[in-house]
Amino acid sequence: MSAGKAFTWTTTSDEVVKAYADSVKGRTFLVTGAGTQSLGGETAISLARNASPAQLILPGRSLNTLSPVIDEIKAINKNVKVYYVPLDLSDPSSTRRAAEEILNNPEIEKIDVVINCAGVMGTPYIQTAYKDKDGKPLELQFSVNHLGHFLFTSIIFPKVRKAAPGARIVNVTSFGHRFTAVKFDDLGFSAGAKYDTIDAYGQSKTANILMARYLADNIPSKEIASFAVHPGGIMETRLARFESDTGFVQDAIERIQKMPDVNYDVLQQLKNIPQGASTILVAALDPSIEAQSGAYLDDCQIGTAAEYAQNKENSEKLWKLSEEIVGQKFPISA
Ligand SMILES: NC(=O)c1ccc[n+]([C@@H]2O[C@H](COP(=O)([O-])OP(=O)(O)OC[C@H]3O[C@@H](n4cnc5c(N)ncnc54)[C@H](OP(=O)(O)O)[C@@H]3O)[C@@H](O)[C@H]2O)c1
Repeated sequence: MSAGKAFTWTTTSDEVVKAYADSVKGRTFLVTGAGTQSLGGETAISLARNASPAQLILPGRSLNTLSPVIDEIKAINKNVKVYYVPLDLSDPSSTRRAAEEILNNPEIEKIDVVINCAGVMGTPYIQTAYKDKDGKPLELQFSVNHLGHFLFTSIIFPKVRKAAPGARIVNVTSFGHRFTAVKFDDLGFSAGAKYDTIDAYGQSKTANILMARYLADNIPSKEIASFAVHPGGIMETRLARFESDTGFVQDAIERIQKMPDVNYDVLQQLKNIPQGASTILVAALDPSIEAQSGAYLDDCQIGTAAEYAQNKENSEKLWKLSEEIVGQKFPISA
């Protein structure tokens, strides 16, 4: 199975947006994690540079890191309305506030494409306000990468439904999902006592894929299609900012080298930021992949995720658990 164009790992964001400009015109896109020098930032800028979105909603932790992106979009294309909304995905109160602000903004009638791109990787053990169903604390990577996006998307979901048919939800995951399945028996690493930063990233990225899978299994693809995307290895972003604390990258490389059936040479082909954003944009824009809702993409094509990340039973289990943890139902049925 492949996506519509002969795109490869070297394809850039601009090439993808130019090819699918009709899927951008007059539509509203929401991108989390659109800070400077990030994949989300490049995704948003490329949409404005090469096509005519009506609105770009860019929720984020700090206007400082988002301002250069917003300024660049305004300089390139004055017709695009850009909305900044303060959002800290590690904090359920901030996440609720941000989502409700978007939900209640009368200028934003509908959201055609949600791109859940924000993320943290390889952090030291940090607890958040989220607790598992037994009241034990959860840590930062699962909270930001999965729970925050799950709660945020569930609150803005009525506006995504308004954009159907043809709406999309794209979760940015990682090859790192192959480090581990979701650890349903000990989501919070025994309150930190058994913390492993690689497994914490891995389970959060597996959760990104399972969430897309569940959405695809429960919503007709013509209404809202959902995808999970591995963008590739991109060293120019700020994702590895905790390297000096945890040594994540070095340890992760050693774990990957021991994985059976993984072509390590291919993984070493590093991308620049525009090449990293391109697969996200294929998932968001390519009309030909709609019927493959639930798929995992890499290198601008439909790829293959680990079985446990595509497994229906796991997706249902994670969904139910996530609803319990965030304390509300995801309004998937109208
Ligand atoms: N780069 C890679 O090689 C690679 C590989 C595989 C997957 N990915 C995935 O790609 C996505 C984007 O990563 P990137 O490389 O662009 O990294 P990045 O430059 O670090 O960007 C991550 C973005 O997420 C935001 N963010 C972090 N914590 C947040 C929070 N608590 N609330 C709201 N926003 C938060 C950051 O905001 P601030 O500016 O406020 O920090 C930043 O804008 C991530 O989901 C990552 O897992 C990246």
